[in-house]
Amino acid sequence: MENGGIVAGKTVYLETMGCQMNVLDSELVLGQLRTLGYQPTEDAANADVALINTCSVRDHAEQKALSHMGALKKPKARRPDMVVGVIGCMAERDPDGILRNMPHVDFLCGPGELNKIPAMIDEVLDTRAQLVALSENKSRRSSLLSRALEHDSVEALDLSRAAGLPGRVLQAYVRIQRGCDKFCSFCVVPFTRGAERCRPPAQIVDETKLLADRGAKEVTLLGQTVNSYAYPDNGRRIGLADLLERVNAVEGLERIRFVTSYPGDFPDDVLAAMRDLPKVCEYLHIPVQSGSDAVLARMNRRYTVGQYVELLGRAREIVPGITLASDFIVGFCGETDAEFGASYELVERMRFKHIFCFKYSPRPMTVADKRSPDDVPQEVKRERNVTLLKLQERISREQNQSLIGQTVEVLVEGYSKAAVKARAAVHDCERPVGWRRPDQLVGRTRTDRIVVFSGGERHIGTLRSVHVQSATALTLFGELIEEGTGNEARISPPVAGPSTDRTR
Ligand code: SAH
Ligand code: F3S
Repeated sequence: MENGGIVAGKTVYLETMGCQMNVLDSELVLGQLRTLGYQPTEDAANADVALINTCSVRDHAEQKALSHMGALKKPKARRPDMVVGVIGCMAERDPDGILRNMPHVDFLCGPGELNKIPAMIDEVLDTRAQLVALSENKSRRSSLLSRALEHDSVEALDLSRAAGLPGRVLQAYVRIQRGCDKFCSFCVVPFTRGAERCRPPAQIVDETKLLADRGAKEVTLLGQTVNSYAYPDNGRRIGLADLLERVNAVEGLERIRFVTSYPGDFPDDVLAAMRDLPKVCEYLHIPVQSGSDAVLARMNRRYTVGQYVELLGRAREIVPGITLASDFIVGFCGETDAEFGASYELVERMRFKHIFCFKYSPRPMTVADKRSPDDVPQEVKRERNVTLLKLQERISREQNQSLIGQTVEVLVEGYSKAAVKARAAVHDCERPVGWRRPDQLVGRTRTDRIVVFSGGERHIGTLRSVHVQSATALTLFGELIEEGTGNEARISPPVAGPSTDRTR
């Protein structure tokens, strides 16, 4: 195949692990390969190109990636023409380890170099040499720099999460920032994704316009610490609030989200933007990691618990109905029972919508791994993890149940997983079994609550009102209120308060 040439009938398998940033990266890689003629396939063993987009944030994710890589060994032995690539953070973090243990891997490509993948596939096919493309001058055996495609112009691509309706653009991720400068002592991201670089606002706005023109109703602006977004513009500094204002002006778009926020230096103008800009959703994911100042200091997080609590209080005051989510790490180096207790108290007090809770996993290169022993026993980490998640589950259930009887506005995202399965079964002339619901839809409130209800394809991609009838910790179940049926009378008035979802 010539570089950049169209291939006919070739297939690509892509396994994605990790965060939204990886989901976006995978979508960009697939987009590039699609334009070259590759068809995506679910069948890894028979794919012409098999790629694994890896995550290095915790050891568990790396072990899973290794097992995916291992599973490609036999197919590759059977079909030596297959091209196997390992891409993303793990390729950047441990290229030598991967090449040593997985000799069937043809190329490695770090997260900043993904634009080189088509050229790398070509070169592997031409030369059968093992290739490595990493940040700066870590690349080896590769003349790829000059052959790389321009990547910036395809930073944002459709991410069609409209389950069951492939190809339809409804929600999209738009990267506003790469890398991170914070160097939390536990975190590998600054090493795998490099220093913070912000993208020009004009580019972000243009991409958002393109996405909206193609039907996107919701964009999520992505970065590791989006509130530190800054870009010079004619002697002025464009911050996140300014960027939100510009994206808010994009016609056709209904909703704007942004993740992830860092609790230090979170400006009030972003909160005001959330209040004043109609498209910006009232939801903030702002990881705290621990409820203990001593642990936060050991983690090199540059804020105190008091400052965090005060910030979230301000957020609730300024943005009516806002929901808040957080991340916690349990069992960080030296974490005592009392320090864990402080995290427990914080969860109890803050009434997050949900939390992610992770057991500390030492990461090579990080300060914590170099300087502090991983001294909390695995069993204790597990217990603390379960304890915190159980507490949050109770809080999430209470919040969701308080919405029973209310009407919430949702963006209908697509069919539920059960419906997708049921529809596939009907399509294959199998009889749908059990409670499978081919008409079950999933929507999301502005405040990020998931709502399940019955409806049809015409509802997908639209904003609808749903009357909530029951709730679990994770999901609200309800009935769609069809316009013109007289059912609108059931819309309850919006109630103010931290656990209440406001309708616009
Ligand atoms: N700002 C980033 C953070 C990336 S890591 C973002 O966009 O989400 C995501 C979460 O993983 C962190 O908030 C932290 O809670 C968790 N995490 C990071 N490093 C970890 C480690 N070494 N062990 C356990 N959890 C970790
Ligand atoms: Fe990691 Fe801390 Fe940045 S968690 S991504 S170093 S803000």
